[in-house]
Amino acid sequence: MTRSQTPNLVTDLAMTATTPDRADAQTRPDDEGRERIQKVLARAGFGSRRACEQLIATGRVTVDGALAHLGDRADPDHQRLAVDGVPVITRPGLVYYLLNKPPQVVTTAQDPEGRPTVVELVPREPRVFPVGRLDFETEGLLLLTNDGELAQLLTHPRHGVGKTYLAEVTGAVEPGAIRALREGVDLDDGRTAPARVHVVQSGPDRSAIELTIHEGRNRQVRRMCAAVGLTVRRLVRTHLGSLHDSRLAPGTWRALAPAEVRTLYRCALETAPDDARPSH
Ligand code: URA
Repeated sequence: MTRSQTPNLVTDLAMTATTPDRADAQTRPDDEGRERIQKVLARAGFGSRRACEQLIATGRVTVDGALAHLGDRADPDHQRLAVDGVPVITRPGLVYYLLNKPPQVVTTAQDPEGRPTVVELVPREPRVFPVGRLDFETEGLLLLTNDGELAQLLTHPRHGVGKTYLAEVTGAVEPGAIRALREGVDLDDGRTAPARVHVVQSGPDRSAIELTIHEGRNRQVRRMCAAVGLTVRRLVRTHLGSLHDSRLAPGTWRALAPAEVRTLYRCALETAPDDARPSH
């Protein structure tokens, strides 16, 4: 029996498991596409949000020719923003690919051992890089982009966006293990922040748990599980910040819609500490 024919708990569960707040974040109307003007300007390279608020407060920003005021919102897809009368161009050439990484693919641009890499699964031009990493055996959602600013925001080691994993583990899951994962566990590189954890399915031979973490340490979920006595048989990332796509087949990718990029930026900026925010 091949791997794809093997009945697998995680595959089935990944299609049905829900993380309500994440799902909502993707489907909830985005205030009809309108965002605070300082956020749009900050993303377009006009400095920090605070610096952009100053631009607005000093009367240098217009939306469709009308003076903008602090607190105003605009739809960057449909409205014309200008600073000092010069149109704000959203940066051209940026691409954002959401890949469903299959197992046994490395999350690097080049592998000295010649193993398949994630960049080989997406278009070659323009060149993109993976944001964060999934282990060789880990599957699921991975973002590849040439937008270094977003990558920096998303991968802050302590304050990254929420990442949800479905872990198929050996044996039953004891309540004490779940409690420990929720509270934080001691790893050799320090105690983990509390994780959101729930048991999706529990059985004597195998179980499945869903974990949401914000940190991005090496092999973190596997090590957290090991620390509470759980052996991970299979690990799938199902949510990355505001992104979720249960219909994306393993090994395939799709380009993010502009609204998804905006939502992801918003999600990343909300969690990023000041020192990770764009300062140019
Ligand atoms: N945690 C892990 O253990 N592995 C991954 O690939 C991602 C998170």
